[in-house]
Amino acid sequence: MKILSIETSCDETAVSCVEAKGGLTEPHFAVLGNSLFSQIDMHKEFGGVVPNIAKREHEKNLPILLQKTLSEAGMDEEKPTIDVIAVTSGPGLEPALWVGITFALDLGKKWGVPVIPVNHMEGHITSVLLRKPDEFSVSNLQFSKKNTDTERAQKIQFPALALLVSGGHTELVKVEQWGQYTIIGQTRDDAVGEAFDKVARLLGLPYPGGPQISKIAEKARTEHIEKTCVLPRPMIHSHDYDFSFSGLKTAVLYYIRDHFGTTPLSETDKADIAREFEDAVVDVLLSKTTEALDDIGARTLIIAGGVIANKKLRETFEALEQTHTDLTVFTPTREHATDNALMIASAAYIELSLHPERLDAPQQNIIAQGNLKLGHGV
Ligand code: KG4
Ligand code: ZN
Repeated sequence: MKILSIETSCDETAVSCVEAKGGLTEPHFAVLGNSLFSQIDMHKEFGGVVPNIAKREHEKNLPILLQKTLSEAGMDEEKPTIDVIAVTSGPGLEPALWVGITFALDLGKKWGVPVIPVNHMEGHITSVLLRKPDEFSVSNLQFSKKNTDTERAQKIQFPALALLVSGGHTELVKVEQWGQYTIIGQTRDDAVGEAFDKVARLLGLPYPGGPQISKIAEKARTEHIEKTCVLPRPMIHSHDYDFSFSGLKTAVLYYIRDHFGTTPLSETDKADIAREFEDAVVDVLLSKTTEALDDIGARTLIIAGGVIANKKLRETFEALEQTHTDLTVFTPTREHATDNALMIASAAYIELSLHPERLDAPQQNIIAQGNLKLGHGV
């Protein structure tokens, strides 16, 4: 099945063309074309994503990325050999989501191809099925023997637990089977990525703050900078699976105010705070996740979303396999961790493998759902 997928939920415009086969038990994804344009530079000066700028940039870039993707796939733009178009319908910024949906529906009409909506968070979950990008290429459609999609899919045992950590979400999700998701815990205020971005701003680092914090925290660790800053681990003993990161950001604000007043922070102070902030986040995520793993009896842990690009978080969770010997931890590659269109194609393929009849159903109207939740339809 050839899938054209479109992602415009936030500040990444992305289009990919994927050939998927093997069904639910042996999914294979071969990338025929893949393009992504990150709008970070446009939003940087505002310190966060501006919905109207995101909308304008998606409108400008989608036709360009489509052309590039189809040309990489060796397909004719007037009548490409696509079986289905998959588009993110939520969650995300509604003005941005609408651009992708309208574009997808227009293409569907022009080409006579069905369009299906995809939940962005299911895209993050299924992103762990995608292999390293350098193994994808049109001229290399043979699948490598090592670590194939099939082997990865077969190692996923249900019920699985998914920890989703992105700029807009922090969720623990019980995955009963592919397509059956129950959110068992979530943040009560800020998402982890949002907390990274806000703390970065307090430290005078540019947007998006996640990678910046990560970089200086790493410096504090490798250079053994003295540990001075101490921050709380919010809700770590709350005996539920919910999180709260807004208080942690405020604790950083007070720490800076109480210890430095109006004196500018040195690079060493910033690195110390960044390391402690990262440690606090990782401690809380780890504690809640291991509790949930035990309660559910899950032997598969999927961690996805942009924040899993964070080295400390990734290494800590991957090390869980050593202490929990019957556990397999799945993370996407760094490239597939942050928003992209390949993950939308992988989720679409899982959904279509579960419900193949959707390909023949009359075209449904697709609407943008900014607050779409996993487990509540698409
Ligand atoms: O999943 P994603 O690309 O977009 C959303 O769906 O939100 O996640 C973006 C978030 C941003 O908050 C960004 O700061 C964070 O992921 N992020 C990181 C790192 N790379 C990206 N956070 C911590 N460490 C990183 N290395
Ligand atoms: Zn995302």
